[in-house]
Amino acid sequence: METVVSGIRPTGNLHLGNYFGAVRNFLKMQEDNRCFFFIADYHSLTTHPHPANLHGNVRQVLAEYLAAGLDPEKATIYIQSDLPEVAELTLLLNMNAYLGELERTVSFKEKARQQPDNVNAGLLTYPVLMAADIIIHRAAKVPVGKDQEQHLEMTRKFAGRFNRIYQIEYFPIPQPFNFGQELIKIPGLDGSGKMGKSEGNGIFLIDEPSVIRKKVMRAVTDSGPTTPHSPVSEPVANLFSIMEVVSEGAVLEQFKEDYRNCTIRYGDLKKKLAEDIITFTTPIRERIKAIASDSAYLHKVAARGREKAHASASKTLKEVREIIGIKPF
Ligand code: TRP
Repeated sequence: METVVSGIRPTGNLHLGNYFGAVRNFLKMQEDNRCFFFIADYHSLTTHPHPANLHGNVRQVLAEYLAAGLDPEKATIYIQSDLPEVAELTLLLNMNAYLGELERTVSFKEKARQQPDNVNAGLLTYPVLMAADIIIHRAAKVPVGKDQEQHLEMTRKFAGRFNRIYQIEYFPIPQPFNFGQELIKIPGLDGSGKMGKSEGNGIFLIDEPSVIRKKVMRAVTDSGPTTPHSPVSEPVANLFSIMEVVSEGAVLEQFKEDYRNCTIRYGDLKKKLAEDIITFTTPIRERIKAIASDSAYLHKVAARGREKAHASASKTLKEVREIIGIKPF
């Protein structure tokens, strides 16, 4: 039983790539670990969202993850800003985080380039807040994608530094969660690369059937095989890859066979793919709608998550304050 922490930025809707990637990993982890999953709304403040959007996004993201299978009975699911201890630990960690190392962070340099008029201190200390998220539960494992590796490396640095300064093995040094070889990458519909948020490339779990049909029918293909057993081009291989996760094995095999003997009709492939995606996402989409409009349920989940997360965080903070020398008279 290991403690696992992961934060979810409340931006954008879940697409199939997220579902078969991060979400699937969350579902696996919650089975046999002490998991803390939270919506990272403090982190999203670095880009100054409109208050109404912020709340709406947090609510939608929470509803989508719950609909996708995150289980509040198995994992502790909470809102980052419901845990003031995170802010306090961030402040304490900031005292031992250095300007030079924060300025050298790749994500900071990127953001400073993207929003030159808003290079705020929250952007600079983003990795410190993320470290606080993780070590506040004294986590051993963090599932991280490529883009978060440097942040986890900094968390390890800050945790180790705290232990060294105060001469105590208090914080575990968190490791990346290892999923082995099972990672599934879902490609996009635009011919190359993986599925993302960009226009025309992704299929979202909330997409209505008509939207899914339109997107799939517009997916990039090629001019078709001309000789038997010619290699499959990337755009077509991508459609096969999506089919692999939503269609029956025999269906995929038939289209591959049609490709090999040059009888494939991409229109038929796309029609079938769209219908199978719709069959797959429809129950999830319906759950998202039901949950997103059930304020009482969302309130209950968040309150229960806050309570469990608070129990863990307040214990850490109490101990950290003592270690640092903040003591009552
Ligand atoms: N920075 C992460 C992202 O952009 C989100 C995040 C915040 C996070 N705190 C975290 C992830 C703690 C893992 C652990 O996706």
